[in-house]
Amino acid sequence: MKVVAVYSTKGGVGKTTAAVNLAWEAAKNFRVLLWDLDPQGATGFLLQVKPKKVKGGVSALVAGQSKVSHAIRSTSYDNLDVLPADASYRDLDLVFDHAKKSEQRIAKILAQVDRDYDVVILDCPPGAALVAENAVFSADAVVVPLVPSPLSMRSLEQVSAFMAESVSKARMVAFLSMVDRRKTLHREAVEKLPATQKSVSAVVVPATVQVERMGTERAPIGSYAPRAEAAQAYGDLWALVEKTVKPKTGTRKR
Ligand SMILES: Nc1ncnc2c1ncn2[C@@H]1O[C@H](COP(=O)(O)OP(=O)(O)OP(=O)(O)O)[C@@H](O)[C@H]1O
Ligand SMILES: [Mg+2]
Repeated sequence: MKVVAVYSTKGGVGKTTAAVNLAWEAAKNFRVLLWDLDPQGATGFLLQVKPKKVKGGVSALVAGQSKVSHAIRSTSYDNLDVLPADASYRDLDLVFDHAKKSEQRIAKILAQVDRDYDVVILDCPPGAALVAENAVFSADAVVVPLVPSPLSMRSLEQVSAFMAESVSKARMVAFLSMVDRRKTLHREAVEKLPATQKSVSAVVVPATVQVERMGTERAPIGSYAPRAEAAQAYGDLWALVEKTVKPKTGTRKR
């Protein structure tokens, strides 16, 4: 099982959008679990799944009092399951803080489903708290969306520094997100960043209404607009991540 964390210190850069689309792309060939670690629950919303009522919420999961398999939902897509967040995820940092080996809890929980999935995608909340430490610790790759702005390099540096502090051996795969080529700054970022920064891939996801439509379609972009440039970009991004983490194919579930 390979773990891919979609993460940035910055909010609103396209993490959840990337996580949902990567999971959908990955599910074409692998058994995929998408874990929403953000109490806003956007991932579940976009894939039309509601959290299951699990006694004790996420703290029972972390304490080992409830099984992760009980909280997992299937989606309408083959090979794609979701572990949705509920309101109890608001306290996740505190819950981890009180646990032993507090940065290794996500890895420990995922060990329960090691044989059930080939790929796990983690949709992380922004920030640099324990949830992120856990995600990076468990990850084989960390996917970082970068929106061209004077602050984007800063967030790239922050994520690099954050990963360097972790014992994790995860590889970073950054990509340009929400790119508007009418803006000079954005065009410059597309030209310069992938050429000068080793961790920044050539994948460019444009800012388009087709991506925005995910909120009303409540579906991955590839399912309703497969020819859109953004859908192709997420396909390319998954191809790159797949090459980076090399998941093994288990038996397909369906
Ligand atoms: N390429 C794009 N083009 C247009 N809109 C986009 C694009 N990517 C994301 N968005 C929109 O931007 C908003 C923020 O995206 P998203 O929720 O994926 O960011 P996030 O990094 O997960 O945010 P948060 O930090 O709050 O979790 C959403 O409304 C989403 O639909
Ligand atoms: Mg999000």
